Amino acid sequence: MELRPASHGDIDGLARLVAGEESQPTTVAGMGLFGLERFEDALELSRVMIESTRGWQAMTVADANQAVGLIQLGEAFLAITPEIVEFAQRVYGADFQQILGPRLAVLEKVQTEYPDGCLQISEIHVSPDHRGEGIGTALMNHAVEVASNNEEYGVMGLQMLTDNPARDAFEAWGFEVADTRTDSEFQELTGAAGYHLMLRELQGASPTRP
Ligand SMILES: CC(C)(COP(=O)(O)OP(=O)(O)OC[C@H]1O[C@@H](n2cnc3c(N)ncnc32)[C@H](O)[C@@H]1OP(=O)(O)O)[C@@H](O)C(=O)NCCC(=O)NCCS
Repeated sequence: MELRPASHGDIDGLARLVAGEESQPTTVAGMGLFGLERFEDALELSRVMIESTRGWQAMTVADANQAVGLIQLGEAFLAITPEIVEFAQRVYGADFQQILGPRLAVLEKVQTEYPDGCLQISEIHVSPDHRGEGIGTALMNHAVEVASNNEEYGVMGLQMLTDNPARDAFEAWGFEVADTRTDSEFQELTGAAGYHLMLRELQGASPTRP
């Protein structure tokens, strides 16, 4: 397994990694938030977002003859591109703005704030078939290396759904819950109370484990 920058040809594999499994909390919440009923639509939305916002350009891939994991460092790429609008019109119809507007406002209510000097981990995903093999740890060690080699950063952070079992992995990697934002409407839509902000200090940071 090697870590390498993502290329345009990886986009379908990256979308599959971000969409994960239909039953996992991040996917359940995403589909609930956007009112998507078909997993295929969640997969397509991931693909359109990764490609049209150029999010793939900030991704590092764990490659084992295919993309088995990814990490995206820096702020999330959240632009509403023409391709995303086209997806929304196809799935929700002409009045997509009335459907999506209130849902995006609910999402806004549970956003936490990153402190100054924080390297954000905007995405980290490992293929369901390869979890527990140390790939997430390798991706996290890459992030620690990037952050430690840049004086700008004193801390690393990510936002995580309050019901995500992956919290155990992040605590094993030295992250702690620094803030929590919850909202009843968000919970109705997604099944999760809200988001935790998880932070890890970088002073004296060393790789997590081989
Ligand atoms: C979180 C995630 C990236 C971890 O990747 P991974 O490759 O399984 O991680 P590792 O194999 O390096 O294991 C690290 C820790 O993850 C946890 N873990 C291992 N297998 C797991 C599994 N099947 N499911 C959940 N957590 C698991 C363990 O705590 C493990 O520590 P241990 O080996 O000391 O027991 C992965 O579970 C994932 O993609 N989850 C879905 C997406 C997600 O929730 N991303 C983070 C929030 S945005």
